Amino acid sequence: MMRLLIHDLETKDFQKLFPDMSSDMMVISDNGTIHHCIGCFGCWVKTPAACVIRDEYGDMGELLSKCSEVIVISKCCYGGFSPFVKNVLDRSISYIHPYFEIRNGEMHHRRRYNNKINLKVWFYGKNITETEKITAERLVKANAVNLDCSTSKVAFIGSIKEMEQLAECNVLVFAFPIYVDGIPSHLLNCLMQLESFFSAKEEKDIIVYSIANCGFYEGHQAAIAIEMMKNWCIKAGLCWGQGVGVGAGGMLTSIKNVPIGYGPKKSLGAAFEKLAKNILEHSSGEDIFITADFPRTLYKLAAEMGWRKSIKANGMKKKDLSLKK
Ligand SMILES: Cc1cc2nc3c(=O)[nH]c(=O)nc-3n(C[C@H](O)[C@H](O)[C@H](O)COP(=O)(O)O)c2cc1C
Repeated sequence: MMRLLIHDLETKDFQKLFPDMSSDMMVISDNGTIHHCIGCFGCWVKTPAACVIRDEYGDMGELLSKCSEVIVISKCCYGGFSPFVKNVLDRSISYIHPYFEIRNGEMHHRRRYNNKINLKVWFYGKNITETEKITAERLVKANAVNLDCSTSKVAFIGSIKEMEQLAECNVLVFAFPIYVDGIPSHLLNCLMQLESFFSAKEEKDIIVYSIANCGFYEGHQAAIAIEMMKNWCIKAGLCWGQGVGVGAGGMLTSIKNVPIGYGPKKSLGAAFEKLAKNILEHSSGEDIFITADFPRTLYKLAAEMGWRKSIKANGMKKKDLSLKK
């Protein structure tokens, strides 16, 4: 059984994204010559199992019958596929049989072939709206029922160009704050998009490092988020390099003139030196958890003084910090 990739990317973008295409992957791309389906049902009643239009896309049904996986990469248009990808799908109905059967309580066509396809779809495009995403997910599910196949993925990607740039990197460094003991939701969203992107790539020699900044004093409070980054690496098929959990992060902006490696930033300097060495050598290291070289009681006093200053700057009083609604 083969894998089939149907995409609407420009050749140069496709080559950048998939420089290492494996031999069991067939690729259907836009060479500008595709004719649209004329709705004649000739693929069922005139030249059964083949399209009557004999361009390069006339045997889509047969091609689908040889696949166990179909990956679609399409610009998201109004919650659906781009004209080219839709054209390929319209030209693919010879994959199914003209007779009907009831599936999912609805009328659909019978199978012509016995192969089981798993359909994975990546939609890309700037400003894909939430309603377009809902429509696109419904569409892929409907397609899966119609073609009697399974679907394991519908992913949305903001920009193919950004993905290309990431694919060219061999080191990724994530630096993020800790929110409620974990990874902030916007970074999570980004990680999920990247996971679908990287997990579909064949060869990747990418190593991931993470720096997590805690508001609390103890750097080890970043350990769960660092663990999540490691779990993400496994799902995305990338290598883990090293994590650094930094405590007392709230202080860093107020001591930005202190050079790294000195005073309260002594441990930070040592940790970043080890991290930088590993990054340069493309190697892995033990996770490091550090805090400011500054007493916890003083950090607490300074931070709480900061909250008081901030609430006063907003025209309220110190006691308003304890307001209830
Ligand atoms: C919604 C929210 C939740 C937070 N939860 C935590 C937390 O669970 N543990 C912690 O140490 N800091 C927490 N913080 C504090 C941030 O991690 C802290 O301000 C950090 O220094 C910000 O890093 P940055 O300057 O890199 O954005 C939270 C901050 C916000 C806004």
